[in-house]
Amino acid sequence: MRVLGILVLLVSIAEAISVCQRRKVVRSFNVRRNASSLTTPLQVGNGNFAFGADVTGLQTFQPYGTLSTWGWHNFSLPTTANQTSVDDFTGLQWWTHGRLVPYAQPNPAQSDISTWLIQNPQRINLGNIGFTFGRPNVTESDLQQKEQVLDMWTGKISSSFVYNGSAVGVETWAAPDSDTVAIAIESDLLKSGLGLFLDFPYPDRNKFNAPFVGVWNATDQHSTALDRTSSNSATIKHTLGQTTYVVTLLWEGEGAISGPAKGTHRYVFTAATNKLHFTASFAPTLQPEAATFGAIVQASRDWWRSYWSSGAFIDLSAVKSANATELQRRIILSQYLLAVNSASSNPPQESGLVNNGWYGKFHLEMNLWNSLPFARWGHFPLLWRSLPNMYNRFLHSSFERAHTQGYSGARWGKMTDPTGRSAPGEINSLLIWQQAHPMYFAEMVYRSYPNSTTLSQWDDILTATADFMASYAFFNASTGVYDLGPPMYPVSENTPPNATINPTFELAYWRFGLDVAIRWKTRQSLPVPEQWTTVRDNLAALPVVDGTYPVYEGIPDMWTDSKTTNDHPAMAGIFGLLPPPSSGPALDTKALRKTADKIKQHWALEESYGWDFSMLAMNSLRLGDAEQAVEYLLHPIFAFDDTGYPVGGSRVPTPYFPNAASLLLATAMMAGGWDGDEGKHFPRGWVVDVEGFMPAL
Ligand SMILES: *[C@@H]1O[C@H](CO)[C@@H](O)[C@H](O)[C@H]1NC(C)=O
Ligand SMILES: *[C@@H]1O[C@H](CO)[C@@H](O)[C@H](O)[C@H]1NC(C)=O
Ligand SMILES: *[C@@H]1O[C@H](CO)[C@@H](O)[C@H](O)[C@H]1NC(C)=O
Ligand SMILES: *[C@@H]1O[C@H](CO)[C@@H](O)[C@H](O)[C@H]1NC(C)=O
Ligand SMILES: *[C@@H]1O[C@H](CO)[C@@H](O)[C@H](O)[C@H]1NC(C)=O
Ligand SMILES: *[C@@H]1O[C@H](CO)[C@@H](O)[C@H](O)[C@H]1NC(C)=O
Ligand SMILES: *[C@@H]1O[C@H](CO)[C@@H](O)[C@H](O)[C@H]1NC(C)=O
Ligand SMILES: *[C@@H]1O[C@H](CO)[C@@H](O)[C@H](O)[C@H]1NC(C)=O
Ligand SMILES: *[C@@H]1O[C@H](CO)[C@@H](O)[C@H](O)[C@H]1NC(C)=O
Ligand SMILES: *[C@@H]1O[C@H](CO)[C@@H](O)[C@H](O)[C@H]1NC(C)=O
Repeated sequence: MRVLGILVLLVSIAEAISVCQRRKVVRSFNVRRNASSLTTPLQVGNGNFAFGADVTGLQTFQPYGTLSTWGWHNFSLPTTANQTSVDDFTGLQWWTHGRLVPYAQPNPAQSDISTWLIQNPQRINLGNIGFTFGRPNVTESDLQQKEQVLDMWTGKISSSFVYNGSAVGVETWAAPDSDTVAIAIESDLLKSGLGLFLDFPYPDRNKFNAPFVGVWNATDQHSTALDRTSSNSATIKHTLGQTTYVVTLLWEGEGAISGPAKGTHRYVFTAATNKLHFTASFAPTLQPEAATFGAIVQASRDWWRSYWSSGAFIDLSAVKSANATELQRRIILSQYLLAVNSASSNPPQESGLVNNGWYGKFHLEMNLWNSLPFARWGHFPLLWRSLPNMYNRFLHSSFERAHTQGYSGARWGKMTDPTGRSAPGEINSLLIWQQAHPMYFAEMVYRSYPNSTTLSQWDDILTATADFMASYAFFNASTGVYDLGPPMYPVSENTPPNATINPTFELAYWRFGLDVAIRWKTRQSLPVPEQWTTVRDNLAALPVVDGTYPVYEGIPDMWTDSKTTNDHPAMAGIFGLLPPPSSGPALDTKALRKTADKIKQHWALEESYGWDFSMLAMNSLRLGDAEQAVEYLLHPIFAFDDTGYPVGGSRVPTPYFPNAASLLLATAMMAGGWDGDEGKHFPRGWVVDVEGFMPAL
């Protein structure tokens, strides 16, 4: 162990990429804008809180979100008879291997409470802060010389513009350790009309595809109250039904706040200085003390410097190829955006803290993509913000979910809110691939921290998960093997659930999950529950059609019907996302190659969600084709905008962060290889510096 440690140290010294070089690479992708985007902001934030800015550095012309991990709201429950409480919801029963099993699916006889449970709670926009110009109807076109830079090395947005002949300079920062935005403004106009507004929206019921969160015209549905706490501070309390929170405002120098203007929740702050430092701290309850502007700036500089100088790094700057530069751009911007949007104490939502996808809820099957990069890139403390405690928090309700369905152990939900409730839905209730994620996470943590704390921290979670997985697999007496489904939805959510049996990816993942659970017990010298081994050793074999791995066993017309060559090509995940099996029969390399070729020829990639491209890239890497991997990672449908936000495409909202996260998993595999084939796997001729990567599983 010690010898290995010294070796690792030597290797990392030999390959070390200096802080200076890292800074050069990071800053070469600093984002510059000269107009507001109508679809994505520039953001500052800390993983649990983010502030989206337009070209003014604030939310002056575009009401981008100020979103948090903790800010949620419920609309009032339905008043329909027998649908007035969440306990009135019963879902539907479907025949499952000869018995009726209740699933949390929208019940037409309970449509009001079903819909309520889907739409509530929803994540709220905590408020907007923007410029007022001392006169109405000023638009972005009234500003000249607009310029804006996001400096990722320090976490600062610098914006400047000219209004009515006078220059305005703005800095926007976020505190790393509180939900605070810190703003510096320098302009003579501050003494003659330029001020700040603060405004508070009411929640909306948009599922997704709105760049903004909240409505501004339901002002009588909620209330705000201003408290001038000193000559340099004030609080505004916002009450929306059961939800309340407080914004603490601090400023340096003379200033005054007034409002709200009649019929609005809009407040105006004006300063009598040409240099203003202003902070707005958002919190569920009144905070005893809010950080000052100077302290936040220092903390942000320190946090981002430490983020970029620690952890793993890929330096492609020596490769003279536009493709390498674009890949590097995506890598750097994804690292910035994931730290801002996804490093949270709940799993992140797919659209992070930019806007709401699925009402702001998070999907537990997507959390593997969303959170695993923090492990793969050596930022474990960010992973530990939500793991494993999220699984512990949701364990009780997951035991209950399994129990009411007649299974042992814990069945993890899907589209989830902070209480662990999984929203009603046919797919939500029948998807199963999230079940084995705890094993993946645990194994990744153990790889870097092989100690007894890791083992005991994850043991209850893995036990409950493996118990469910073993009891969910159905012993088919006529074939003598354990089947998965029906009913179920595989990763590609487009197959008939009552006919879907033994999907390739899920079978491989069940084996992986049970293998890890068994190893976990063995590592602790604890007995392995017999049922885990029995199920693993008698799982249905991976289906094979025409020498390829299909979506599921018995699927009709696998490669000839465009309906089946659609959605996620998850069979590529058995050799991309997952390592080769450590029990049972080996994968058929010829079939893996033929499957990869068939996907390339036939799959409707133009309708794929972006993380598919990373999964295909990982599969290509293991098949020895790094050029193909890069081609997938630069596929035109796998798009990242000027600020690195992953474009959702035709089927999911923008931004869709699993794309950014999956790109970091695929590139981590290029940099660190995998067990049995460690080291770099970049296209021929690329001279790349990498540092700090563990091989993938
Ligand atoms: C604004 O930015 C765009 C895109 O970066 C660029 O093409 C354009 O020249 C810039 N305009 C000005 C006035 O700087
Ligand atoms: C919303 O209501 C549900 C069901 O009563 C409850 O569990 C949850 O805590 C509520 N959330 C908020 C933010 O009020
Ligand atoms: C509500 O439930 C009660 C008791 O089960 C039943 O008598 C009544 O018909 C139900 N009302 C409606 C509108 O479904
Ligand atoms: C699946 O079978 C159940 C009955 O067990 C039925 O209610 C449901 O509609 C079927 N679903 C589909 C998509 O056919
Ligand atoms: C501002 O715009 C609104 C809506 O377009 C209009 O009703 C109002 O008269 C304008 N105010 C001024 C002062 O121009
Ligand atoms: C521009 O500034 C001048 C004073 O310098 C003032 O008289 C005028 O009203 C301002 N115009 C606008 C559009 O703010
Ligand atoms: C608020 O505005 C939206 C459109 O922006 C409109 O659909 C809605 O009816 C308005 N609501 C009220 C209460 O005015
Ligand atoms: C053991 O692993 C945990 C993570 O699971 C880590 O926080 C801790 O520092 C490790 N302990 C030792 C003694 O290495
Ligand atoms: C047993 O397996 C066969 C082949 O997969 C399948 O057709 C059949 O429906 C299964 N039987 C049961 C009871 O699920
Ligand atoms: C860059 O990527 C594109 C698309 O993947 C590919 O067609 C092209 O050959 C690549 N160019 C170089 C120089 O590698």
